Amino acid sequence: MQESAEYGFSAYICIQLQTIISFIIMSVTAKAQQFIDLEDRYGAHNYHPLPVVLSRGEGPFVWDVDGKRYFDFLSAYSAVNQGHCHPKIVKALCEQAGKLCLTSRAFYNDCLGPYEKFATEFFGYDKLLPMNSGAEAVETALKLARRWGYKVKGIPENEALIVVCDGNFHGRTITIVTMSSDPDSYGQYGPFTPGFVRIPYNDTDALAKVLDECGDRVAAMLVEPIQGEAGVYVPSDGYIRKCYDLCHAHNVLFIADEVQTGIGRTGKMFACDHEGVRPDMITIGKALSGGVLPVSAVLADDEIMLTILPGEHGSTFGGFPLAAKVAVAALEVIRDEHLTENAARLGEIFREEICKINSRFIKSVRGKGLLNAVITEPQDGIEAWDICLKMAEKGLLAKPTHRHIIRFAPPLVITEAQLREGIAIIRDVFESL
Ligand SMILES: Cc1ncc(COP(=O)(O)O)c(C=O)c1O
Repeated sequence: MQESAEYGFSAYICIQLQTIISFIIMSVTAKAQQFIDLEDRYGAHNYHPLPVVLSRGEGPFVWDVDGKRYFDFLSAYSAVNQGHCHPKIVKALCEQAGKLCLTSRAFYNDCLGPYEKFATEFFGYDKLLPMNSGAEAVETALKLARRWGYKVKGIPENEALIVVCDGNFHGRTITIVTMSSDPDSYGQYGPFTPGFVRIPYNDTDALAKVLDECGDRVAAMLVEPIQGEAGVYVPSDGYIRKCYDLCHAHNVLFIADEVQTGIGRTGKMFACDHEGVRPDMITIGKALSGGVLPVSAVLADDEIMLTILPGEHGSTFGGFPLAAKVAVAALEVIRDEHLTENAARLGEIFREEICKINSRFIKSVRGKGLLNAVITEPQDGIEAWDICLKMAEKGLLAKPTHRHIIRFAPPLVITEAQLREGIAIIRDVFESL
């Protein structure tokens, strides 16, 4: 805890310095400054945004309050796969908003059932459990895994274990930060939830060891097929398949958190599809609404899903009519506009072109589809944050994850010409450092 508090203080000083430097480099206008000041004065300080104040979005672009256009290469952490304000999704939202927004699950409505039918057929699972945020979907999957562990596998009550990985990011609730290995996420939020075993990511020997030692008490393994927040860590080929096989050999559920990697982002509908793995449970969120509303869900088959009975889990908004209509429209856009295929094709171009950039600040590039990261080599006092500021100045928004990694994840509707324009900005910035 002491270490975490000290880390917190130095991180605070670092953020203050970065903020001052940002304002010098970015020459924030008086108009933008007003909005920054309001957030600073009246909002909690739990984020550290780039000093850009956005007021409009369309496709792969956003505009700031002064009318300057930017490529959005973050896509709200992969929520805006379908592009900003996709007309079909916005139409679905507006039409339903004028009819019926929220009923709660105390009654049936004429949107949820059709959405559940559409989504389960679309993704190939028996059932969908609707929630709102990604964290709620993960919490739901954890509950389902424990339930399945007790009711189906026969683990003695209160003894179920769930295996998770170092470097994970599954959200921000107390239980979820219990699973985290990042002191920024879990520091001074204890006491924590018991029942988790954390092993190194991309290490199937570690998984085999845990399952050999206590597999009879393990209900599930929860893993991101690519660790997004950790810096777009792509595990070795075959890792996901091996984890799945080991889990199944021990009657353990394999749960993939595809909140960030799912719905076309990595060039397949799910990142697990790259290895032909169909997880026992999948958590989805973000792009499930095209970034229009918080909409998330868990997908699973009946043996797992029906272990939770009426009154044992839920959410006032989960599966509300507005979300149901928006989610169907958002998935149709992914399918009809071939966005998964676009992500696969443009991702190859992105990595190929970034590799050609001649800059001592670039160590490597990694990713799949349009979920990529450039690993930078901080030097001469220049860190990933400063590079992001320079890119913003030239009209491209991306955000560092950790101090040396920059994630690049444009909306999947981006065209090849637009992507190349964005890459030219990135190249200019790196080559001018
Ligand atoms: C893999 C993964 N799971 C869960 C979450 C949490 O989603 P939310 O912020 O909607 O709660 C995120 C968010 O970035 C994520 O990347």
